[in-house]
Amino acid sequence: MKSDSDITNQLREKYESIDQDLEVHLEGLLHSKPISYWDYIQTDVLLNLQKPRTDFPDEMVFIMYHQISELLFKMILTEIGQVAKNEVDDLDAQIFTEKIMRVSRYFDVLTSSFSIMKDGMNVDQYNKFRTTLTPASGFQSAQYRKVEFASTELINLIDKRFRDKVGPNICCNKAFEQLYWQAAGKDFKTGKKTYTLSAFEKRYKKEFIEFSKFYEDNNLWSKYKSLPKEAQENADLIQAMRHYDYTVNIKWVMAHYNTANHYLNIGGKTAEATGGSEWVKYMHPKYQKRIFFPDLWTEKEIKEWGINI
Ligand code: HEM
Repeated sequence: MKSDSDITNQLREKYESIDQDLEVHLEGLLHSKPISYWDYIQTDVLLNLQKPRTDFPDEMVFIMYHQISELLFKMILTEIGQVAKNEVDDLDAQIFTEKIMRVSRYFDVLTSSFSIMKDGMNVDQYNKFRTTLTPASGFQSAQYRKVEFASTELINLIDKRFRDKVGPNICCNKAFEQLYWQAAGKDFKTGKKTYTLSAFEKRYKKEFIEFSKFYEDNNLWSKYKSLPKEAQENADLIQAMRHYDYTVNIKWVMAHYNTANHYLNIGGKTAEATGGSEWVKYMHPKYQKRIFFPDLWTEKEIKEWGINI
């Protein structure tokens, strides 16, 4: 245990190094209030962030579960960010596996908890309050897009119809226009974009391009490829990467798709989504064929991606 004088000396050194007087800081400590749970966790702020647009009680479920998802997306991005920015010492197969499993666990939670959305709201209430949300859509979740950019090379996020035609080193504006999710808001023949997509781009495009430039060489796949060959062949690591890929791109996507079906496909009649996409086709993994780590799957597994699930 450190003695009082050790701590005082360290404090003196700390403050001297930034030209501060330790005595003044100690006096400040004397006057400052002790920290409380509510100040630290910011519960008052957090619990004031739910602003329903209608009086339907289930709208609260909808808002809060989206907020929970965004918080988990932030946890995922923080975790990936540590690997990407080399903040993890001695990255080897074991540490990489631990990191991937942390990220996976967040997505496991998102997947298993999606029933809160699917079974947790009254269908009639949902179909009433959702009309007040048009033209907003979960499609406009910037953090979800960032999770994708941070997980894989850009080529794997290109619409599969164009993937084979684009050359290597595709970047920036050109890549952006061919991302798979443009299909939800763009007529590829005329190039016309829906308001939902245009507004999203106006708000985030510049940020996405900066973000994806950094992550093109620092995403989870490139970091994995930078490990020694022996580490890349580590069975636990490969299993963890496959688990993450499958959880995000099949399990979460299917939980989401089944929820959309539950609310928007009543008696075989498909309602238009608030974001206006052809969602029945767009959202299914067998059409999107989005795979973060295609080299870790067999040809057969890729061919059957999203089929028979
Ligand atoms: C009742 C619940 C939900 C329904 C009916 C629903 C429906 C949809 C639909 C139809 C789309 C396609 C775009 C459009 O036309 O709007 C979409 C996209 C999206 N939603 Fe949801 N959603 C729900 C809950 C959620 C939740 C809780 C999240 C979590 C943040 C979320 C995140 C997203 C994302 C990220 C996309 C884009 C996915 C992609 O591009 O593949 N959604 N949603």
